[in-house]
Amino acid sequence: MFPSLSLLLLPLLLTTTLAQNLTDNQISQVRSNLQQSAQQSWELGTEAEALTELDYPSLSVFSPLSLPPPTFFTSSPPSEVLSIAASVVHSRPAGPGPLIPADGAVGDPASIGVSVLLANYSHTPGGNFSAAAQAQLDYLLLAAPRSSSGAISHRADQVQLWADFVYMAPPFIAYYGAVTQNQTLLALAYEQISLYRQALRDSSGLWRHITLGSGVDDGHWATGNGWAAAGCLRVAMTIYFSGFGGEMGNEVNDLVAWAGEIVNAVWPYQQPNGTLLNYVDDPSSFADSSSTALLASVSFRLATLPSSLRSFHTIPSALRAQTLINSAGLSTDGWLQPVVDPYDYPLRGTKSPEGQAFVLLLQAAYSEWSAQGEQGESAARAVVGSGGVGWGNVVGLLIALLVGVC
Ligand SMILES: *[C@@H]1O[C@H](CO)[C@@H](O)[C@H](O)[C@H]1NC(C)=O
Ligand SMILES: *[C@@H]1O[C@H](CO)[C@@H](O)[C@H](O)[C@H]1NC(C)=O
Ligand SMILES: *[C@@H]1O[C@H](CO)[C@@H](O)[C@H](O)[C@H]1NC(C)=O
Ligand SMILES: *[C@@H]1O[C@H](CO)[C@@H](O)[C@H](O)[C@H]1NC(C)=O
Ligand SMILES: *[C@@H]1O[C@H](CO)[C@@H](O)[C@H](O)[C@H]1NC(C)=O
Repeated sequence: MFPSLSLLLLPLLLTTTLAQNLTDNQISQVRSNLQQSAQQSWELGTEAEALTELDYPSLSVFSPLSLPPPTFFTSSPPSEVLSIAASVVHSRPAGPGPLIPADGAVGDPASIGVSVLLANYSHTPGGNFSAAAQAQLDYLLLAAPRSSSGAISHRADQVQLWADFVYMAPPFIAYYGAVTQNQTLLALAYEQISLYRQALRDSSGLWRHITLGSGVDDGHWATGNGWAAAGCLRVAMTIYFSGFGGEMGNEVNDLVAWAGEIVNAVWPYQQPNGTLLNYVDDPSSFADSSSTALLASVSFRLATLPSSLRSFHTIPSALRAQTLINSAGLSTDGWLQPVVDPYDYPLRGTKSPEGQAFVLLLQAAYSEWSAQGEQGESAARAVVGSGGVGWGNVVGLLIALLVGVC
């Protein structure tokens, strides 16, 4: 009986123990594929964020050192991040309007705004970053169409709310509020996410992809759920480290809880090899490593937040996802696979720039979690950490049992 029990549990044990950092070679291939493929506004914004979190973690909003931003870089400036900001601002006509004109999406160009503000405060030469950031903010707040509830539309030509928006605009609005010490903007970033959640979350706990206007997508698009959860955490930590974190504790708690409710709703649909499906709860949908990487990054971030906000119970799922990405999820030349077509979200694609960025977000979050002692990796710790009973606890308990009988 004991050997068969061990055999049964071996895969569970293996998926947790095989988790490891990507190799330097994998990271450099993934990064270089990202850098040569990212072109669309949201891809550039997500690239800038991923490179910041991976290569310059003390500048990312997950670090208490990130605010206020440095006024000069004395050593190792985040050159790749600043050069994204510089090239966008350089190509932009002076005057009002978003960072990338005629983008079609209201929310997407704003995703580059965090790097533009970083360039401004660090006195980076090469453009009027302050004016460009302010014009982008004004466009979002004053010119963009809104829903009747007050949610800023994700599209320019019609009022439409996409889950994607949550990663694109609120993190910029919040960062703008943090660097200018404007609490109104921090509250506004929170309020926008709250309005999007009211419009998109349904009784399953998952977020629908797109509502209002023509081209509604009521499905639970996995990447959309990832964008929403990851955006919630960036805004939460921006507020937390802004200096207004004490006064805005309820907002921070809500945002962390909203990210948590998404990962809680998503991971029960994880497939046997660790992947998520492109539409989370639609069994006819295909496996998608892109959303799998992004949502795993959120689970690792949730486990590395300041101790009062932390939760560990989705770590076992994130570890299974991370192990898959590290092995079968990356081609020998560093492309994430298999992936949804990022330009036609119901269809399978071949290469995904945003997916490349998600691998780096995952690596950044995983390595921080690992460096902090891998809490939640086993049942004993999960029980202590979350106080809850989840799948992670069950897995850990089984592992403890197995170790016990061996
Ligand atoms: C840009 O930085 C300067 C300080 O160097 C600051 O006065 C200005 O408000 C900043 N612009 C924005 C949009 O934050
Ligand atoms: C940047 O643009 C603003 C608004 O147009 C202007 O007031 C400011 O002088 C410009 N700054 C620089 C350094 O050119
Ligand atoms: C904060 O930002 C809002 C929106 O841009 C602006 O209307 C307001 O004047 C700002 N408040 C302060 C104190 O700068
Ligand atoms: C995971 O399994 C699914 C089949 O369920 C497969 O389509 C997908 O390619 C696998 N993912 C990876 C990264 O191998
Ligand atoms: C992953 O990398 C981080 C940062 O270098 C390190 O602290 C951690 O121990 C590594 N984890 C593993 C499992 O090797």
